[in-house]
Order: sequence, then structure tokens, then C-alpha cells
Amino acid sequence: MEITRRSGLTMLAGLAVSACASAGGTTGLALPALPASPASPSMPPSGVAPDSLQAVARSKGLRIGSCVAWGADGADRGSFANPNYAALLKRDCGLLVAENEMKWQALRPTATSFDFTRFDAIMAWAVANDLPMRGHNLLWHQPKWMPRWEENHDFGANPRQAAERLLVDHINTVCRRYGTKIASYDVVNEAVNPTDSTLYQTALSRALGGPEATLDLAFHTARAAAPLAQLVYNDYMSWEPGNAKHRAGVLRLLEGFRARRIPVDALGVQSHIVTQSPDTRGSIAALEGDWRRFLDDVTAMGYDLVITELDVRDNGLPADIAPRDRAVADFTKGYLDLMFAYPSLKDVLLWGMSDRYSWIEGFEPCPDKARRRPCPYDDAFAPKPMRSAIAAALAAAPARR
Ligand code: XIL
Repeated sequence: MEITRRSGLTMLAGLAVSACASAGGTTGLALPALPASPASPSMPPSGVAPDSLQAVARSKGLRIGSCVAWGADGADRGSFANPNYAALLKRDCGLLVAENEMKWQALRPTATSFDFTRFDAIMAWAVANDLPMRGHNLLWHQPKWMPRWEENHDFGANPRQAAERLLVDHINTVCRRYGTKIASYDVVNEAVNPTDSTLYQTALSRALGGPEATLDLAFHTARAAAPLAQLVYNDYMSWEPGNAKHRAGVLRLLEGFRARRIPVDALGVQSHIVTQSPDTRGSIAALEGDWRRFLDDVTAMGYDLVITELDVRDNGLPADIAPRDRAVADFTKGYLDLMFAYPSLKDVLLWGMSDRYSWIEGFEPCPDKARRRPCPYDDAFAPKPMRSAIAAALAAAPARR
């Protein structure tokens, strides 16, 4: 029997109620208490600053949040254990996601073991602060992002069976561990090769009979192990020039999921967006047509949208900080205004709150050697125009039901 998210919700309604009733405070790392319920358009709970991003989001039935990393106390990282960073998270966020700590590279030191230490520490902090978490991700389907052992793994005499067991065991172990505590998973991340629209192969998918069979199994397994959760395909196809083949490949994949009745609820639009020039209005006018067509095609197939990793690569801008920040803010506002026109979009995750810890600096430094400014807060944790732009876009968003 196919378990849909709706039937799963019905089946588990009683279970969820009894779990809620018994939820207490943070009692340990293994099984943290339930997260706060999803946003409702209501007054912010006490302790939430009325002008915080999460309060503005909540007033529209939206949620906003950020990625967070593991870190030892006092470490200068984008971690919950860093008081400067924790203060930003607590103030502005109503939702969190672990930047790296749920990936196979973090959870799977070997084919036969799991290490949940770091993810559990993040989860415990999130629960203690009443912050729900998304799960990112159950399968990053590219060889370079799988643990090294996986690409060299010996799948034995019956490779298909061994590969299926490895994948199913991974997803079951993660999803069952967090039960109803994680309400949305990026089940598959970045499976489409943007250069030719095909699906990547990994050692796992070769053993299992191909990428489609692998991704399908991942979603079916996640649905069975976490029937209440939103299941997301997450990718970085975006609106800038050069993304047409990536978008086409993602559309084909999403069509295939529907044709094969694979339980996928939403497209995760990573949203690592890239400014094109100081003329943000002109840039947006040039980009929005193709982008809307893509999003229309996705939503017409019945997929919801989630912004999973928003940040801005400040390319093609003056070196001066003021005009650079202005352009980043305007580009962000234009992007979010367009995205919020899609009613199914309810959750927005930033890929970091402060420029100080953004991955962009290491991934793609500015050609002119200026420091990247991709996040709503600067290196010294002061709010930037991008933060005001996000607040303005949230305030202007049509209210969600
Ligand atoms: C990035 C992290 O931010 C880095 O710390 C890590 O080295 C590589 O991964 N798409 C994704 C995220 O789905 O998981 C990536 O995160 C950024 C791009």
C-alpha cells in the first residue's frame, strides 16, 4: 500500500497526540522532546521580540530560520555553542537546520556505524529553545559528498540487495531516531547534474540498479519511517543565467516522481542567489520570467515549495560596502517578493545568519578579494540592509492560511 503523507497523518494522529501529551523539557540527547508546533498566524509567544524576523514571519503564517553548526563552547563558529551566534538564532529564528551534522559524511564514519553526537547536541539545544528543526539530508546523491568509504565500498556478491540494505538502514535509523521531532526532511539533495540534466551516479546507485531506483527507494523508505514528515527533493537550480539545464533536469526528475507515484511533497529551492549587477531592478526583470515558468511548472505538479538555504553571492557589485549591501538587500527583497506569491511556500531557511561564518567565503571567494557579504548580519553581528529587506518581504507577504 502506498502511504501518502495525508494517510500517514491520519494513521498517526493518535500517536502524535499522545506523544505531545507526554512531551516534557529536554531530558537527554537521545530522544529530545517534541518541537514547537508549526507557525500559526498569531501573536508571538512571550520572549519573542515583536520586531524580530520570526515575529514578522509568524504574523503571516510563515516561518523563518537558519542553519546552525556544531561547535565546542566558546568556539568562533556559526554554532549554538557560540553565544554571539546563539543570540541571533534565538532572536530571529523560528526554525533551524544543521549545516552539516546530519549528512552521511557526519553521521556515517563507517558502513556499519553511526555517530549522532554532534547532531544530537544541536537537536538538544534546539529543543531546549523551542525551535523545530528540519532534517538535511538523508541522501546527498553525489560521489563527492558521500563519505569516502561509500565510493570504495564492497557491495559483495549481491550488490543490489546490499545497497538497498545500506540505504534503507540509514534512512530508517535516522528517521526513527527523531520520530515526530523532525517534521520536514530533505530526503534527496542535489541529484541532478547541472551540466547535462542527467542524474548523478554514486557507488551506491550503481550497485542498486541506477539513480532513479535509488532516489525512489529513499523517498519510499522515508515515507514509511516518518509518515508525518514533509518529504523534500532539494536542489540549487536557480534563476540566474546558466541554470536552464539544471532546471530542466529537476523538472524531469519531479515529473518522473509523479509518474512513478513516489512520495515527494515539496521542492526545496536552495536559493543561493547571485547578484548580477548594481542594477538589481533590471537584473530581476531579466530573470523573473524563466523563474516563474519553472516554479509554475513545479507547483502545477502539486509540489509545495520550501526555501531551504537562502544566501546571496555578491557578484558584479562595487567594492564599497554601502552600495554592495544595498544591492544584496534589493535583490533579496525582489526574490522573496516573487517567491511569497506562491502560497505553498511557508518556510524560509537562511544558510547562515552572519557573514562571519558563511560557507560562501570558502566556496567561492570574491574575485576582487573583498570579503563576501551573503547574510543578514555582518562579521560583527550587526544587522545589514539584507535583514531589513527580509523583514520587509515577510511583512509584505500574503498571509498564509
Ligand atoms: C555546505 C556547508 O555550508 C559547508 O560547510 C560544507 O563544507 C559543504 O556543504 N548545498 C547544500 C548544503 O545542500 O548542504 C551545502 O552546505 C551548501 C550547498
